[in-house]
Amino acid sequence: MDKLVITGGARLSGEVAISGAKNAALPILCASLLSTEPLTLTNVPGLNDIGTMLKLLAQMGVKIEREGNRVTLDASGLNNPLAPYELVKTMRASILVLGPLLARCSEAKVSLPGGCAIGARPVDQHIKGLLAMGAEVGVEHGYVVAKTTAGNGKLKGAHLFTDMVTVTGTENLMMAACLADGETIIENAAREPEVVDLAQCLVSMGAQISGAGTDVIRIRGVERLHGATHRIMPDRIETGTFLCAAAATGGEIRLTGTSTGYLDAVVDKLMDAGCEIVGEKTPGRESIHIIAPARLKAVSIRTAPYPAFPTDMQAQFMAINAVADGTAIIRETIFENRFMHAVELQRLGADIQIDGNTAVMKGVEKLQGATVMATDLRASASLVIAGLVAEGETHIERIYHLDRGYDHIEAKLTALGAAIRREKA
Ligand code: UD1
Repeated sequence: MDKLVITGGARLSGEVAISGAKNAALPILCASLLSTEPLTLTNVPGLNDIGTMLKLLAQMGVKIEREGNRVTLDASGLNNPLAPYELVKTMRASILVLGPLLARCSEAKVSLPGGCAIGARPVDQHIKGLLAMGAEVGVEHGYVVAKTTAGNGKLKGAHLFTDMVTVTGTENLMMAACLADGETIIENAAREPEVVDLAQCLVSMGAQISGAGTDVIRIRGVERLHGATHRIMPDRIETGTFLCAAAATGGEIRLTGTSTGYLDAVVDKLMDAGCEIVGEKTPGRESIHIIAPARLKAVSIRTAPYPAFPTDMQAQFMAINAVADGTAIIRETIFENRFMHAVELQRLGADIQIDGNTAVMKGVEKLQGATVMATDLRASASLVIAGLVAEGETHIERIYHLDRGYDHIEAKLTALGAAIRREKA
């Protein structure tokens, strides 16, 4: 299994291109299932999760052409509405095929998902919504088994209310509703920019959707969706991660192909920490410029659904607070078990006290390199940031998590001046 070896101390500088968003690309790839005409996507990131999703779609009968960051999916031959455990177990987002399969094939069998070990992460809200839309849904031998019950094989439009804000739940139900009979209203919908990107893609395929980006989304079902071309939005979490890496190292970098508009809450906190951050826009080019002070001030955060501070940036802020000046309190309100990186950061010398969903951190002058283990995707990113500022060598094991969600991270960091290499463990 590969590991990363980082020699800390380099101040990041230069320019880095941000890739397309993993969490937008995954649902949008699934949207291809809704049409018999090809969907072409550009700015698709080169990630293991994308590879897993493409494999999953291919075994259902979707024809896929991939050339660099451009992917064309042709689901005209869709013949196997099954998502087997072997493919689903590494990636929770596989559940996103459930809604589109049911809408297009009137039946679906999808393994219960695996993915990051950051809490129980049930899919009851996805199922509740599909039940309200007239589907019969059960869980058999670890699989969600669903079929429509109406004579015409369609789902029925319904008034849905999710018990909590769920991103993939909103996306699954929005896709399912596109081909349903009548209007579906999703209340308490997730407002994440990735939900909006998916809605924009669906609209360009002929769907009738309004309200994406607010907490009430209305979808009027149509007979069929057609082919389209769509550019995946920039990855706001990759953007935030590079901003944190620059911030922690006292660096100055420019991030291209992305904008501050997607991550106000994160930018705000980095500015509180003492960074200067400017979004720049010239025709055809958007970028962000960050200049970090020699030492950051500690900043407290509380995660919550968009537009509040994203849980996917919590671990990276734990890393920057580890070496900041002062005390910070971090509250995780989305997932119940998302502090696994704290123990690893402590191995590097961080001062962190955990009590339930709250971490109290006292910044230390220096971290010290050690061997640590990546436990989930964003935890891995926090260990990379900590390694960049730790004295000596940090060895990060189990980096397959990182490859699920960060496009060429060590090449990008190397280009910014970091001393980072991949080794076969
Ligand atoms: C998505 C993101 C993930 C991010 C998370 C929260 C993708 C592919 N992944 O994950 O990176 O960390 O949003 O911003 O977009 N819940 C239930 N029942 C459900 C659904 C969710 O109890 O049916 C709970 C979850 O356990 C969690 C909370 O709701 O506590 C939010 O989860 P959700 O928004 O669904 O996360 P994901 O969509 O899986």
